Amino acid sequence: MTWAREPAPRQPLSLWTTDRSAVHHWVAGGFGGLDKLALRVDQPRHPAVDEVTIRVHAAGMNPVDYLRMSYEPKQNPAQLPLQIGYEVAGTIIDVGTEAVTGSGRARIGQNVLAFRIEGGYATTVTVPAKDVFLMPQNLTYPEAANLLFAGTAAAELLHLTRVGFGDTILVHGASGAVGTSLVQQALLLGCHVIGTASSKHFSNVARFGGVPIRYGPGLEDRVRAAAPNGVTAALDTSGTAEATTVSLALVTDKSKIITTAAFELAAESGTRSLGFSPASDDYRNSIRSFLIELAQLGDLAVPVAGTFPLAQATLALELLRTGHAGGNLALVP
Ligand SMILES: NC(=O)c1ccc[n+]([C@@H]2O[C@H](COP(=O)([O-])OP(=O)(O)OC[C@H]3O[C@@H](n4cnc5c(N)ncnc54)[C@H](OP(=O)(O)O)[C@@H]3O)[C@@H](O)[C@H]2O)c1
Repeated sequence: MTWAREPAPRQPLSLWTTDRSAVHHWVAGGFGGLDKLALRVDQPRHPAVDEVTIRVHAAGMNPVDYLRMSYEPKQNPAQLPLQIGYEVAGTIIDVGTEAVTGSGRARIGQNVLAFRIEGGYATTVTVPAKDVFLMPQNLTYPEAANLLFAGTAAAELLHLTRVGFGDTILVHGASGAVGTSLVQQALLLGCHVIGTASSKHFSNVARFGGVPIRYGPGLEDRVRAAAPNGVTAALDTSGTAEATTVSLALVTDKSKIITTAAFELAAESGTRSLGFSPASDDYRNSIRSFLIELAQLGDLAVPVAGTFPLAQATLALELLRTGHAGGNLALVP
């Protein structure tokens, strides 16, 4: 007896045929505070030829997510609603016909991270494939979702101040998301790192090989005691006046004092600020694959202080806004 071979069932071109669930995503409907945020439900859209759709397993969180709602320079209503969240980790569920990720041809089922994208606080995102990379297998989704925003900022701080082997550097705010990445990357360059933190977060600095010291009154003396041969560069993620004052007292070359947050103080004192230029964007984009490789090798960890359900984004942002979250936070849809 012979069997007539039945035609194989046609593979759906798109998972949308089986997975058409609505997209839940946070948007800011106006400029101002967290009260402007709303969780919206919309129909998913198909990826364009050079895009992929990712089911988000974790959305990375960064202070800029709430800062941009109040600091958006022009506050142009045409920008609204703001799509919140610049990075995610998840699984590709749909691909455009010509989608090539930063790691090669895009395929459904790949575990990936994406940065820098818009609208990461969501259950799914449809984003340019060029900003998507295979996820390091040794990272969890919340870790992978927080690797690149802080990591690329830290890399650029080190790049701009041109520190290297044998330099002693001071990191203000070494226990946070940017700070912990900075400590690790500086150590890999062969720097000696002194990092300020609150005493309850000293372990975030020490576990990566930095020397933790307490910020607050007397900071300059404590740094001098920890670095008797002086400090080559001061990299600030805290944005405080104390950080700027102490940096100026310790580092004579102002090109080696840089902040991620105290922009006005930097302008007043003739020191440097990070970001907000095409050159900065280009540098950060160019360094993404390298940082992913470091993470894959186990040389760059992402300390996650907590995860929250997607629906609790505003609660998580409140914690982030304290400036003492103690590491990265992620939203888990
Ligand atoms: N310009 C850019 O391109 C760029 C890029 C990335 C980030 N940023 C900015 O960089 C800043 C840090 O980001 P992040 O994600 O690392 O934030 P984060 O995770 O909240 O870290 C904040 C850090 O600041 C420390 N800190 C808090 N209050 C302090 C004080 N009074 N004195 C000294 N240190 C204090 C915290 O230490 P404890 O928790 O131990 O108290 C922690 O180490 C944010 O303002 C963010 O917007 C800018």
